[in-house]
Parts: sequence; C-alpha cells; structure tokens
Amino acid sequence: MEQKKVKDVNSRLNKVLDLIVYRRVEVDGLINYLSEYGFFTAPASSKFHLNYGGGFLDHSLNVVETLLELTSLPRFDLYPKESCVIVGLFHDVYKVTDGFKRKHYEPKFNKDGKLSKIPYKKNKGSLSKGEAYQSALIISQFVPLYEDEIQAIMVHDGLFTNEAQSIGLDWCPLAWMLHYSDFFSGIFTECPTSRLYNRENRNNKFFCRS
Ligand SMILES: [Fe+2]
Ligand SMILES: [Fe+2]
Repeated sequence: MEQKKVKDVNSRLNKVLDLIVYRRVEVDGLINYLSEYGFFTAPASSKFHLNYGGGFLDHSLNVVETLLELTSLPRFDLYPKESCVIVGLFHDVYKVTDGFKRKHYEPKFNKDGKLSKIPYKKNKGSLSKGEAYQSALIISQFVPLYEDEIQAIMVHDGLFTNEAQSIGLDWCPLAWMLHYSDFFSGIFTECPTSRLYNRENRNNKFFCRS
C-alpha cells in the first residue's frame, strides 16, 4: 500500500515536471536541495491533513493538479502551466525546511519512547514566522520567480494572514487560484471523511420548504 502510494506520487511528480519548459534545470536544483531535508518524506501537517511521511508531496501535487484543472477553464487560462506547477509544487516548502538546515517537522514520541498517535510536531528550533514568505525566499534561491508567482506564494493562506494583509487586496489572479486550489485540496480532496466532502450529506434542500 505504502509502496503504491510512493509509486503514484513519483509518476504524478514526473508528469507535472514535464510541463516545466524554461526553468527545469533550476527546479531540479531546488528539488535536489529540498530532498536533503525531506521533500519526499515530510508530512503535510502534524495532525490535520495528510500527516504521514510523504504527505507534503502528496498535498503539493493535489494543489498542482487542481490548479491545472482550473487553468484549463477559458476564463482562468491566464498563466502558463509552468507557473501553475511551480507555485503549486513549492508553495509549502517551508514545511520541509526553514532554509537554515533545519526541518520543519520532527517525529513525536510518547514518554515511553513509542511514536505518538499524532506522529509529528513542529520543530521548535526552526524559524516559525512568516511561513509563506519563507517558501518564496527558499524557492527564489534556486528558481527565478515572476511577480505574480511571488505574490501567489506569499498570500496562499488567504486574506486573514499577516502576509495577505501586508500585501493588500490587490492580489493577482494567480494568488486567488492558488489559494482556492490549496484550500479545496486540503479540505475536500484530502479529508474524505469530512462532512463537507460527502455530497449526500450536504443539505441541498431549499430553505423553508418541506
Ligand atoms: Fe500553506
Ligand atoms: Fe498547502
């Protein structure tokens, strides 16, 4: 099962990397760097979505795939696929490392030495402020970014973050598209037991009608 998961992730990764035309060498350099800190093994969260080894990459690919679906719609066909892959795949790289040789997550153990039911915790020694900024900084050490790509990465968590408030409401469309793809993936695609996910459980009756 775990093996199949890894195989799926690798083939999905190769498929989206094939869409990178102009910055492939730089992107490969970034993946190479991140691999040292857990690009293929980090979780997506400690106790929420995809909190297993490899969950980070699984989530990042879900975001890329959602973003590519969105951009295939006529009114959303505003950016090259390469931009969608880069912002989707790397928007959360702060979850791999803070850029100073420290991992973002570390395994969590109980007092008896056994792995906790919640298998990960944040590494208290790593930088923990301005996480979306960290992603943009780390990526830009390896891959030159367009302005819209930087904005999209910095505000991908939405309006209610310091990053979004400091940039203001004048976001580029890519920022909204990444934000939507990120949340849709995290809430619906990655939480199949969620009440929100299950269409049959949605209350689709008209208000005030029997
Ligand atoms: Fe994020
Ligand atoms: Fe994310």
